[in-house]
Amino acid sequence: MAAELVCFEEGCRARFPITTAIYNCPHCGGLLEVWYPPPATTPGALKRIWRERRTSNAPLEQSGVWRYREIIPFLDTFDGVVTLREGNTPLLNAPRAAQYARLDALVFKHQGFNPTGSFKDNGMTCGVAQALRLGVERVACVSTGNTSASMAAYASAAGLQPIVFIPHGNISYGKLAQALEYGARTLQVEANFDQILALVRTLAERLGIYLLNSINPFRIEGQKTIAVEMLDQRDWNPPDWIVLPGGNLGNTAAFGKALRELHASGFIVKMPRLAIIQAEGAAPFYELMRRPEQGFQAVHHPQTLATAIKIGDPVSWPKALREVACSHGVVEKVNEQEIADAKAIIGRCGIGCEPASAATLAGIRKLAAAGVIAPSADVVAVLTGNLLKDPDYIYRYHTGALQSPDGSLIEPAFGNQPVTVPNDPGEITRILDS
Ligand code: F0G
Repeated sequence: MAAELVCFEEGCRARFPITTAIYNCPHCGGLLEVWYPPPATTPGALKRIWRERRTSNAPLEQSGVWRYREIIPFLDTFDGVVTLREGNTPLLNAPRAAQYARLDALVFKHQGFNPTGSFKDNGMTCGVAQALRLGVERVACVSTGNTSASMAAYASAAGLQPIVFIPHGNISYGKLAQALEYGARTLQVEANFDQILALVRTLAERLGIYLLNSINPFRIEGQKTIAVEMLDQRDWNPPDWIVLPGGNLGNTAAFGKALRELHASGFIVKMPRLAIIQAEGAAPFYELMRRPEQGFQAVHHPQTLATAIKIGDPVSWPKALREVACSHGVVEKVNEQEIADAKAIIGRCGIGCEPASAATLAGIRKLAAAGVIAPSADVVAVLTGNLLKDPDYIYRYHTGALQSPDGSLIEPAFGNQPVTVPNDPGEITRILDS
């Protein structure tokens, strides 16, 4: 039995050939998932094979995605795979951040070490591999910046034409610059992320363009390997908690699917709990968990300086809901000041990240204070994007000029002002000694 696309909805579960270019179930409109028969090789043997592959110079084995290909076996052949050596991101111990959250220890899985600086690369190598297999020439995405940067790079590397749609004026320059440099046709639309996603879904059908948003189930398959690699790096010892920022909720879907599959196949004996952190002004998933009886309510005008997660109508919320439930997880929200301060603390650890990623530490601090996460818990937080993605935010924070969407100033509690000095050794000595 080979891989298939399966409708995610319990009451439907319609199945489609893996080569069907669809994003939703044609019968019921539900989200789609890739389904596989369980791996033929035992967990012990696969763990050994994956470890051995780390010493290889072959491009496929050097990829922190394709090294684990037995977990994502949707291709018949790997000849056309384009890899930029994605994945291979470190687990970084961060005592100072742990202290800030009042935990004994805290480890970051830093996806900002990826080729285009975010976790999107893990998924994009798979999405682009599927696009090549389908024989399409143009691929598109709507993005808050990181997906577009990643898609632009992988599509161009694969000889496809990338077309990116972004909310005009609402993505950081670092990310916009990447899309331009990697050669994407870049369309800045006068609308927010959710509105543009609806637009692009219509356009993709009309223009025959393959969509590489996280609604694309092959992106989710690639992002599963972030969890797989993390467990491999921990010698298959699952943490108590895995903490992720939540925007469109694709990564939540990916982590949950990976953990369930690994648990079902005997790779791990315990399921870690997922903690999903949203920005206060863009927190529809948090509200759903708080008041499930009201059903999912989109936020029509999402607001946050963490533009990567400025999303009010996340497409993957039904999957995320299942994954949080299956892992006995929680959802928390954090405000702009909490995100900004947590981000500065991650910087002081010598690690650094972009604003959306810092929502994790802010959320952990809140969950620890509430007694949800125990001080002795074994916690891994995923830093989703690189510090240099949004330097403007950093400069404004440290100089006291960062303003919340409501116009209030963010207090630079951990600010680090640059000092302008004259070209005078005496004066500089006096300043440094004071
Ligand atoms: N962190 C960063 C840095 C992101 O770029 C995103 C999403 C998220 C967290 C949230 O992940 O959507 O899987 O819940 N960025 C998307 C984009 C939406 O277009 O780049 P999610």
